[in-house]
Amino acid sequence: MTSPAGLNCIKARLVNHAGFSLLSSGVAPPAAKKKKPKLLNKFDKTIKAELDAAEKLRKKGKVEEALKAFEALVNKYPQSPRGRYGKAQSEDDLAEKMRSNEILQKAISTYEEVASLSNAPTDLIKLSLKRQADRQQFLGRMRGSLVTLQKLVDLFPNDTSLKNDLGVGYLLIGDNSNAKKVYEEVLILAPDDGFAKVHYGFILKAENKIAESIPYLKGGVESGDPGTDDGRFYFHLGDALQRVGNKEAYKWYELGYQRGHFASVWQRSLYNVKGLKAQPWWTAKETGYAELVKSLERNWKLIRDEGLAVMDKRKSLFLPEDENLREKGDWSQFTLWQQGRKNENACKGVPKTCALLEKYPESTGCRRGQIKYSIMHPGTHVWPHTGPTNCRLRMHLGLVIPKEGCKIRCAQENRTWEEGKVLIFDDSFEHEVWQDAEDYRLIFIVDVWHPELTPQQRRSLPAI
Ligand code: LMR
Ligand code: MN
Repeated sequence: MTSPAGLNCIKARLVNHAGFSLLSSGVAPPAAKKKKPKLLNKFDKTIKAELDAAEKLRKKGKVEEALKAFEALVNKYPQSPRGRYGKAQSEDDLAEKMRSNEILQKAISTYEEVASLSNAPTDLIKLSLKRQADRQQFLGRMRGSLVTLQKLVDLFPNDTSLKNDLGVGYLLIGDNSNAKKVYEEVLILAPDDGFAKVHYGFILKAENKIAESIPYLKGGVESGDPGTDDGRFYFHLGDALQRVGNKEAYKWYELGYQRGHFASVWQRSLYNVKGLKAQPWWTAKETGYAELVKSLERNWKLIRDEGLAVMDKRKSLFLPEDENLREKGDWSQFTLWQQGRKNENACKGVPKTCALLEKYPESTGCRRGQIKYSIMHPGTHVWPHTGPTNCRLRMHLGLVIPKEGCKIRCAQENRTWEEGKVLIFDDSFEHEVWQDAEDYRLIFIVDVWHPELTPQQRRSLPAI
């Protein structure tokens, strides 16, 4: 399906946390099991031949002609719900063909008109409003889609699939608390509803109710209901199981891999470019960025000293990790670049370090990564976790490294940092960090585009 401007933006907005992205509009709601819908009211049956003729044009893909025919019908019979629905669908088709958000907006209004006509058949109202809400979401009009979805729920209070859609509508604007209420209602009406279960579990997990989330995520994925076979649910189910120390996590990762959601059991990023070389640990030579690595290692003391000075004077520039990745401890970061954008203010604190980096667009231009200092204090454990994308590799330059007590595992191999040395790993593979040293550990993190991405991909991939 082609996509007018909106969709990429929507996705980019929703995907900024490693592994904890909100739902995007990609989830298909369960199809209601029902008989053939009745689309014609009494009057429309009397003009069926004319309606059929127009619909035939539409079915044949004669988009402009179909629209003309339905427009003529709407002018002739303004009270015909089926005529107006045909007009809406033809505008919808034309919007797709012309990739025009403006025409799509027209279709959205026309779908709404259908539902407001007196004597419109209920099946037609439902179809029309559902498509309206779907297209509103497609355009990023999340508030508008919520109004439409709420209208649907009010008109058809027994149809739990509409409530499920409303819940997604709330999740799309980040209103988890209303989404939660909606799924609670569904689960009272339909305790076996797999779609409601996975979403309810997802919300509980986002609230850090890890143990509680597991039976919902598990039951939902096991149901096989439409909309439940989604990488995010395998991701969060496995993560929840890992956090409660249940080895069954890997069974779900394996299944997620078999169902095509993960590149492998260990590599579980959800925003991927297929076919990129994938291994947990990399050498500088393998990345092709040996110049950058050399420059970091040659200048490590300068980078360290600028970082230490900021730590002393403007400590507040270091922000605590906020993606719920820690089991315990104290871990903060000071970010210089993210999503390929330089933080000018941050760079004022570490000007030489930033000047040095400017020479390396493979890093400063990496819109799916960051450049940052990372300080971790003793008594910290970072849960096993997986970054959002396979499009970057992550360099760690050791700056202040305690003699012992710090280590990082990526996939099945542990490493430790050394002062003035760069480690390189692919953080789309599961990794985990322990800091049990006597003193703090400071490193400098430099993300780079995956070396196999083409210049065109580096320009066009949506930021994360
Ligand atoms: C990570 O990138 O997840 C961590 O390894 C960062 C850090 O400071 O160790
Ligand atoms: Mn990480």
